Amino acid sequence: MSEAVQRVRADRQWWKEAVVYQIYPKSFFDSDGDGIGDLAGITEQVDYLDALGVDAVWLCPVYDSPQADNGYDISDYRSIFDTYGDLADWERLLSELHDRDIRLVMDLVVNHTSSEHEWFQRSRRREGEYADYYHWRDGRPAAEADYDTDDGPADEVAPNNWESIFGGPAWAYDEEREQWYLHLFDESQPDLNWEHEAVREDVYEMMGWWLDRGIDGFRMDVINLVSKTPGLPDGDPDGGLVGAEHFMNGPKVHDYLSELVAEAIPDDDILTVGETPGASVEDAQRFVGEDGLSMVFQFEHVNVGHEGDKWSLEDYSLVELKESLARWQNGLADEGWNSLYLSNHDQPRTVSRFGDDGRYRDRSAKLLGTLLYTLQGTPFVYQGQEIGMTNAPFESKSELRDVESINFVEEAIESGAAESYEDVRDAVETVGRDNARTPMQWSDDENAGFTDGEPWLKVNPNYDAINVEQARADPDSVWHYYRELGDLRADRDLLVYGTFDLLAPDDEQVFAYTRTLADERALVVLNVSAQAATFAVPDEAGDDLELAIANVNAPETPGSTVELDPYEARVYLTPADSTDRPTTTNSDST
Ligand code: NOJ
Repeated sequence: MSEAVQRVRADRQWWKEAVVYQIYPKSFFDSDGDGIGDLAGITEQVDYLDALGVDAVWLCPVYDSPQADNGYDISDYRSIFDTYGDLADWERLLSELHDRDIRLVMDLVVNHTSSEHEWFQRSRRREGEYADYYHWRDGRPAAEADYDTDDGPADEVAPNNWESIFGGPAWAYDEEREQWYLHLFDESQPDLNWEHEAVREDVYEMMGWWLDRGIDGFRMDVINLVSKTPGLPDGDPDGGLVGAEHFMNGPKVHDYLSELVAEAIPDDDILTVGETPGASVEDAQRFVGEDGLSMVFQFEHVNVGHEGDKWSLEDYSLVELKESLARWQNGLADEGWNSLYLSNHDQPRTVSRFGDDGRYRDRSAKLLGTLLYTLQGTPFVYQGQEIGMTNAPFESKSELRDVESINFVEEAIESGAAESYEDVRDAVETVGRDNARTPMQWSDDENAGFTDGEPWLKVNPNYDAINVEQARADPDSVWHYYRELGDLRADRDLLVYGTFDLLAPDDEQVFAYTRTLADERALVVLNVSAQAATFAVPDEAGDDLELAIANVNAPETPGSTVELDPYEARVYLTPADSTDRPTTTNSDST
């Protein structure tokens, strides 16, 4: 057996071979006509997930919550938001998924809670050890500060100048405790104080409670924000998000994460994916190396083209995107593992962000699926991506539901940067989070078949043309293409474990690379542009390649020069090695 195949057998993990499907419960499927998705609705659709061929579901938060941030503000970690159902509904969902060999990954939101959480209520009353569960501070005399905060007593301002990720100061004044508390997100999402051992113990216990119920992993919300610089010093006022250098990848982040894995994760069969904004490849190497996470969600590639803040987005440069993705591919190749994603509930729709959601929607959606399934790492498909759902029009501020977008529009108007919604509409429709949250488009029935009631967020008006029913009926659809990609990846270890080599890094149209595992090789050629392109196949790509999948009719072999139509995608593979994808793991046979 070759060294490469031996290595694969030793490294084999279900979560490396899996395709994960992300569900945003509020928008997936409404079973009871209240206009809001729910657990019973997801259960009704498990056969859909099975038909698509996914191996795991990441369920965004379904816990009890006042829903200021659609469930990322949790008021009780051990119960279900009643609009979504109850624990019995959740258990039914888990068992229906498991019956189909689909695993379940739950969202773990422990950088902050809701201010309605019992811990916060007790903390504001300074009850025993709860007094220190959050970051409480006295204000700073207004006369000594070079920043202003509207909240609190007239003669004081917030304890430091940090900004919230959702806009405005990161501190709010609490009348009851007569102190300020830190909230890196919404005012109703106070940050937990991870310095306090009792907080960490409570978190680990709660994780055990869910693991005991049979879940298969955790997606860890902004997990690299849990450690803050002691003393909470002022941030650089000119350094982008003010204070970020004191709360992103803070001084104890690795201590906390490795402790969390040691205390709360029983073994590496549990998928752990940490959401880590601002993390570099080197940070990630530690998170997945010493700290023991399976993988992280990094942000570099989704930030390509952003000038400054998230709201100003220029056309992205393919060369820059390739450079970034290749750096992560190579940086985590030997030790570690990549997650792969092109969108989620916080990002614009994949095809609107990285492809062409007009003339070439279908083709570019397939091309981006090809990229997602053929890089090295675990692909995460966001609901609707498999039918090429697009960003949506939002005609007025009243149509928005996302706290971040609403804050952005209000601040722009209040500060005078915009006169009205129209001035910022383009930014909202390009990057606002509601784009990803419009209801899943199941059919061309009223409300896209998502609900019999009034949907909590407007359905994208293009549902009559883009929907699941239509996509499943058309064998050439994006949906069927995703299915085929899944089959291909499931058949070939090469596409999971093979090493990645970028070709033609400076080509401004073509994203091409090889994957190699022992004698097997894949050549992936993607024309990420609306113009025809030519690609010269380098000798090292090999000469016994055969077409495995393409989004337009393509020759069976690549030849020496590939002529590509706009947004054309092709994957060529060498014939499968008979030793590929053994049924046993860590086999000692040779
Ligand atoms: C990241 C989540 O993905 C996002 O939706 C949420 O608003 C923030 N973390 C705060 O929990």
